[in-house]
Amino acid sequence: MEIVILRSAQEGAQLAADMVAEVLTSGSNTVLGLATGSSPLGLYAELARRRRSGALHFGGTSAFALDEYVGLPSDHPQSYASIIRDEVVQPLGLDPAAVHVPDGSADDLVGACRAYEQAIQDAGGVDVQILGIGANGHIGFNEPTSSFASRTRIKTLSPQTRSDNARFFDSPDQVPEHCITQGLGTIAETRRLVLLAQGEHKARAVAAMVEGPVTAMCPASLLQMHPDATVILDELAASALTLSDYYSYVYEHKPAWQRHDPATITAERERHK
Ligand code: GLP
Repeated sequence: MEIVILRSAQEGAQLAADMVAEVLTSGSNTVLGLATGSSPLGLYAELARRRRSGALHFGGTSAFALDEYVGLPSDHPQSYASIIRDEVVQPLGLDPAAVHVPDGSADDLVGACRAYEQAIQDAGGVDVQILGIGANGHIGFNEPTSSFASRTRIKTLSPQTRSDNARFFDSPDQVPEHCITQGLGTIAETRRLVLLAQGEHKARAVAAMVEGPVTAMCPASLLQMHPDATVILDELAASALTLSDYYSYVYEHKPAWQRHDPATITAERERHK
């Protein structure tokens, strides 16, 4: 796992955009994995800025969102379908038909989960997955004690997650109790993971993810087992890390052979498709 500690969220958004751009330019028909929440908003804005300036093109790109609330209609302003449409699909000019969000309003939720897994497989898997982290260490909506082998499924949100997300709703009781989320096993199969975290309220979860044991009590600790995971933090989110000076030293002295070489990314993608 690579840990990058930067002075501001804006610098983090730029680095994450560089990483997404590397994947976009390494082959055609890129499959993006999208997170919602506030953490990746700067990244999406930076990608949109690069698109407007002509530096990035998203033709042929498809995408899969990590999760969705159960029971919110897709046109509800807080449904992840609406947020992905407003923050990603429109600004990046993606084809709405190529951007998938789990169907939290389906009559057959179990069937919808199965179909979602199949759609990811049919697309050849996710090339680069953007992640945030919950204050309790969740990724997607995989709450503590989620199985590392889990696939897309229905989950019950923890009281902490409901209260953390209440700020987006008119009142806390409007936050749905259930969600559909890609599983930890699904997320583990994506070829590249880029996790963003900002602010002191994430510091404990970040320390548990990076320096704690690999445990279902901190679902994000899954990143310790992934061959290509980068964690991009601001100084506050990094403030509980024991080895932060070492991570900064490693990043400053990153040798050329350790940087991602476009030809290697292309070869890796071809191998999986
Ligand atoms: C939400 C989402 C996650 C997100 C996390 C952190 O509940 N389901 O995908 O990463 O919580 O949210 P934020 O970035 O707003 O802190």
